[in-house]
Amino acid sequence: MKKIKTTTVLFNLFYCMLLKEELVVADGVFTWLQRDRYDEIVEKYINAIKGHNCASRSKADMMMRDDIVTQIPKANELLSKVFYSNRSALVHMHNMALNRAFFMSYILQRMNSTEDYSIQPNLHYLYMSVTADINANPYAINGSSIIFDKDVYYPNWLTNLDFNKTIPLFGVKGWRKDNTFAQGNFIREPNRRVVQVKDIGAGNNKNYTNERHKMNPWYQFWLPDLDKHEDKSNKFTYSIGIRYSNVTGKFIKEEFDVFNFFGPNLPSQNEKDNGKMPVRFTVPYFDCGKSNKWVVSAVSPIVDFFPRYSNYTHMRRQRFMMHVVSFDFHEPFVGVAVMDIHFTKIDFNACGISPGNPGPSYLAGIARCKSNTGCKHLSGKGYKRGGYICHCKNKYVYPMDIQGPYNGKLIEQATNAEYANSFGCIRGDHYRVLPIVDQKAHVTVEFRVANINKVSINKNNCNSVPASSLHLPGDAAYDVENQFKSQGSTALRLSHFLSLFLENIQATDNFGNLRGGGRLHQDHLFGEVLANVMADYRIISSGIFFEPYIFKNQDGTSKELFGPYAFKSEGVAKAIDMAGLPRKYIFENWYQNIKERWKTNTAKLEKYKMNQLVRSDVKGTSAVKFEYYPIAYFAPKYDDGMWSNPKFKCDRMVDNWVMTYSIPFFQRDYVAKKNIFAGVVTVDVPLDNLEINQCPQSFNVANAFKNTARCHISTECRKIPGYKYSRGAYRCDCKQGYEYQFADGKTFIEGSLVELEYEKKVRGLFSRFDSLVCRVQGGATTINSNCISILKVVIVALMIQRFTE
Ligand SMILES: *[C@@H]1O[C@H](CO)[C@@H](O)[C@H](O)[C@H]1NC(C)=O
Ligand SMILES: *[C@@H]1O[C@H](CO)[C@@H](O)[C@H](O)[C@H]1NC(C)=O
Ligand SMILES: *[C@@H]1O[C@H](CO)[C@@H](O)[C@H](O)[C@H]1NC(C)=O
Ligand SMILES: *[C@@H]1O[C@H](CO)[C@@H](O)[C@H](O)[C@H]1NC(C)=O
Ligand SMILES: *[C@@H]1O[C@H](CO)[C@@H](O)[C@H](O)[C@H]1NC(C)=O
Ligand SMILES: *[C@@H]1O[C@H](CO)[C@@H](O)[C@H](O)[C@H]1NC(C)=O
Ligand SMILES: *[C@@H]1O[C@H](CO)[C@@H](O)[C@H](O)[C@H]1NC(C)=O
Repeated sequence: MKKIKTTTVLFNLFYCMLLKEELVVADGVFTWLQRDRYDEIVEKYINAIKGHNCASRSKADMMMRDDIVTQIPKANELLSKVFYSNRSALVHMHNMALNRAFFMSYILQRMNSTEDYSIQPNLHYLYMSVTADINANPYAINGSSIIFDKDVYYPNWLTNLDFNKTIPLFGVKGWRKDNTFAQGNFIREPNRRVVQVKDIGAGNNKNYTNERHKMNPWYQFWLPDLDKHEDKSNKFTYSIGIRYSNVTGKFIKEEFDVFNFFGPNLPSQNEKDNGKMPVRFTVPYFDCGKSNKWVVSAVSPIVDFFPRYSNYTHMRRQRFMMHVVSFDFHEPFVGVAVMDIHFTKIDFNACGISPGNPGPSYLAGIARCKSNTGCKHLSGKGYKRGGYICHCKNKYVYPMDIQGPYNGKLIEQATNAEYANSFGCIRGDHYRVLPIVDQKAHVTVEFRVANINKVSINKNNCNSVPASSLHLPGDAAYDVENQFKSQGSTALRLSHFLSLFLENIQATDNFGNLRGGGRLHQDHLFGEVLANVMADYRIISSGIFFEPYIFKNQDGTSKELFGPYAFKSEGVAKAIDMAGLPRKYIFENWYQNIKERWKTNTAKLEKYKMNQLVRSDVKGTSAVKFEYYPIAYFAPKYDDGMWSNPKFKCDRMVDNWVMTYSIPFFQRDYVAKKNIFAGVVTVDVPLDNLEINQCPQSFNVANAFKNTARCHISTECRKIPGYKYSRGAYRCDCKQGYEYQFADGKTFIEGSLVELEYEKKVRGLFSRFDSLVCRVQGGATTINSNCISILKVVIVALMIQRFTE
């Protein structure tokens, strides 16, 4: 036998050990990174177009491709599909756009008679509404607008225009002003409390209905609405009911006054056509001259009866139907409600196309996970690199000394040598399968909270059970303030709007050709609470409750109590004035609690601002600063509100387990020269939609379910999002030093399986509970596998040598 040259082999081994060092010398950080689609977008759009050069760019340069923002919420999927936290801002924008479209459609159709003309939402109302949208949502919404098509808006606030005349263009656009360098902002950080609002139908470059206008991707979805035949398939008739009260303790009628109005479409569950959705999202575009940011907008259409006030005016529809002799009323789309978010705040999934990341997606696959690892999205990174993790695939394990998974951010900061030698997984061995079980052993996991079986309480028996079983302890609603932040913010928005209006507007104000002042009408506020429950399925009910004698009727007299309260009953939104109930709402606990806290002390309120630019004349020749510029108001922030404990609301309206968020609003007392507590805004959210966390948590966390997960000591517990109020929504991941031992394609043990097997074990049935563990990891190490094979060769060679000698 031929002798093997030991020296050659040893040299190889030596070289192999040196390999790492050598490459570090040769290479720096990032040099291995290929230019990819992420860089392309940054170069072509984000870095290329700025506020100072956008005016000269073409419209095409300022709009991105349509497959960059993916997994856009669709109205008919909101109920059935899980939208992860990386899409919660988009879902909230979706619901807010819909909310404003419902409100505007409702109020325009409700107040359509000539007598109602003067009490329609006026200039202040619209400006303040968009300001509240933005100021109450500092982390989700940075722009809000209500924009009308050409020649459809009847301004009731221009003193020198006939009531039956429209103005050519009108749109109220608000955006968050970056006040980093404002006078008085000493911290030099944007405080997110200043909003700029402009009538975009006035001033230069105002014709947003024009094809060539650059910043109007929200326009073409529904406007101009010329084709009458499309009316039926794009719009929907909503029916609502209201019970009014004009004397405390009494309703005017026993039954609900029913009103039907046309609104954005209500697509069926299996509708796939994007064009039939009530809300659509624009591609990312540059908002040149306004916020000067790349934004994405959610857009929802506003419907109105047409023509209004006269039937032979210069209305758009008529122009196209000259040949039609008889006039009938139509309900065209007359405008859009638009919500904006900054593009850089929107997550993208860098992993490849998969069921969790269905395409088309331009940025899919730019993650740099190695082949034996799987890629998983990491939420909350916005448009930034490295928003993912790489975890070992099934049958692979992390090297002994590594706590997986690998963070995408670290991978993308690695040097060439680091990347070549790390971030991999090692093939494991000897995998088992879980035993197949006898299907006959059926058990159910019973779910009780504080000894109350909440399923057993329903609207038929809630009146007869003891009151104590209608209340759950507060820790049963752990995390409600985060999971229902969007719904709480919807109440906060209303509080901001009311505070802004009631602290600043005096009924008789007038500003030259602008008719200011005005009062809130009860139908406005019924519209607001109805829109809250109609636009967000997670809002079960919503109310506004005024302090005694604060709400003013149109004639200036005060109403003792006013409490418009909307709820959903079998899918139909209804509202009542709570003032009509025999028991006054001001004596309820939740009302008293908020009132006590804010009645005397309003010092904690923060100051917000609205900068208004209004049209200088009827035609909108230019946009000028409003008489008062800026307008300031004091309002609460989200944390100032209170979430109640879960309770079964047994009132023949809601009849469900809910948690209530209450937030105060304020009004100006001109005599005492200060802001005073004026009432409370509430929303109720369903307990059933709360996700519980059973994983171990620190002793001071008030979570009724903590430490109830049955993960084995060899595993680590993690919550799985997207489940209803039920047990088993967690997973057990193997801890460092342990490995997953089953060959079933997964890499973790599911909580629901653990719970079920545990239940079987407790009952003495055959159970796999004790198998649901991770095993101690085998001897795999970090040494480069090439080195290991060379080492093997050396040992074999040496042995052969010894034998042959
Ligand atoms: C705006 O542009 C449209 C479309 O080009 C045109 O029909 C309309 O007259 C213009 N409106 C104004 C007020 O300039
Ligand atoms: C208000 O209530 C009184 C009875 O309490 C009733 O006579 C009156 O018509 C009501 N007013 C309106 C506007 O409904
Ligand atoms: C006002 O709305 C009602 C529906 O509530 C409709 O029947 C009526 O024609 C509208 N009137 C005008 C002037 O548009
Ligand atoms: C339109 O106006 C004419 C004259 O003012 C009136 O006779 C007719 O009833 C109106 N039609 C409708 C549908 O309101
Ligand atoms: C508008 O109303 C005025 C009366 O206020 C009337 O003289 C005029 O003819 C109306 N114009 C149109 C276009 O309906
Ligand atoms: C809103 O604007 C502020 C200030 O310009 C910015 O810091 C923030 O990221 C933006 N947020 C969203 C959700 O667009
Ligand atoms: C959001 O997160 C989920 C779960 O991590 C992921 O499946 C999804 O692809 C992410 N979507 C986007 C657009 O980042």
